[in-house]
Amino acid sequence: MVSTSTNPNTEAKKRAFDLMLTFVKSQCVYVATRLGIFDLLNDRGEQTVESLAQATNTDTERLYFILRALAHVEVLAEKPGRVFAPTETSTLLVTNQEPSVGHLLMHLIEPAQWDAWKVLPEALAKGVVPFELANNKGVYQYCYDNEWSKDTFIKAMSFLTNSQVDGLLDVYDFGQYETVMDVGGGQGGLIANIVKRYGCKGILFDVPDVAETAPEYISSLGVNPKAIEIKTGNVFESVPTGAKAIVMKHFISAWSDEDAMQILANCKAALPDDGKLILLQSFVPDLDEPKTEADGIMPGIFAVQINVATPGGGWRTKKQFQELFEASGFKLERIVKTDNSLSAMEFSLASR
Ligand SMILES: C[S@@+](CC[C@H](N)C(=O)[O-])C[C@H]1O[C@@H](n2cnc3c(N)ncnc32)[C@H](O)[C@@H]1O
Repeated sequence: MVSTSTNPNTEAKKRAFDLMLTFVKSQCVYVATRLGIFDLLNDRGEQTVESLAQATNTDTERLYFILRALAHVEVLAEKPGRVFAPTETSTLLVTNQEPSVGHLLMHLIEPAQWDAWKVLPEALAKGVVPFELANNKGVYQYCYDNEWSKDTFIKAMSFLTNSQVDGLLDVYDFGQYETVMDVGGGQGGLIANIVKRYGCKGILFDVPDVAETAPEYISSLGVNPKAIEIKTGNVFESVPTGAKAIVMKHFISAWSDEDAMQILANCKAALPDDGKLILLQSFVPDLDEPKTEADGIMPGIFAVQINVATPGGGWRTKKQFQELFEASGFKLERIVKTDNSLSAMEFSLASR
């Protein structure tokens, strides 16, 4: 029998304590990011807690607890006199420049997301989507309806794309297709990079709320927005035609199997007979596979976040995705791994 003694400082006990208080770290880093503490330190250099409290209109003594904790987990560096200096990690969390990990962090930890975790026991018992139980609407609609949430969500997705796109384009040749369409492509970072690297034509498909800022973002990446046709609509109604290949990055994983099959049927209808559908996705590892990817992402943990927030989806294993696509009339051609957590799963049409 395993001893449950409270005495020894075993690795198991340390892990249990860390799990218990990980939410405190999340909240500290969230509030500091949201207050712009990391922006201030990046812009002005090291600051006293008094100066940071004044600049963020917060209570000095309460803020000190949070900043000291962030120094203990090496997000900040604390110096004598309650002075805080930026670190490599805090620099990644700056949100007043390009899309950053700070935007992803704020999107994942914003109060509406947190509310979903609070109702998790009830949602589990009822078998419903926690985010929808807590907020009375889906996560996408919630973001479209709230300006700050929408802006943060769009930047979070753009950050993820920016951090993974080079690794993908190095190993997957999109030059073989005359026209590529990104379904659920957000602001267009992925399709802009495909067009830029491979010279093919691009189509971006997303809802109007998100696609409205795409031309500006695509221009900021040094790509002529005219090289990319922007189409808006609802993927459950139809998918535009005109592309030889459809890419879907971290898109189908938001939906239940039933919804995903409807989306895949619409993609199939939009593709020519020799068309390809390329799923760009991180996969939950099988039992015998490593649990952490090269970029530090643990897909099994992310899968829970997606499952709590989105309408019935979740990151899946390679086998589960393959079965889902095969049940929708696609045939797996190959899987191409990148140097980060993203893989490309290439499918052709098995039948009409
Ligand atoms: C998780 S994000 C992924 C964005 C992008 N593919 C990426 O990897 O950065 C899902 C995207 O799907 C879009 N979307 C959600 N529901 C949609 C629908 N019914 N029709 C078209 N696009 C939709 C969202 O607006 C969002 O941009």
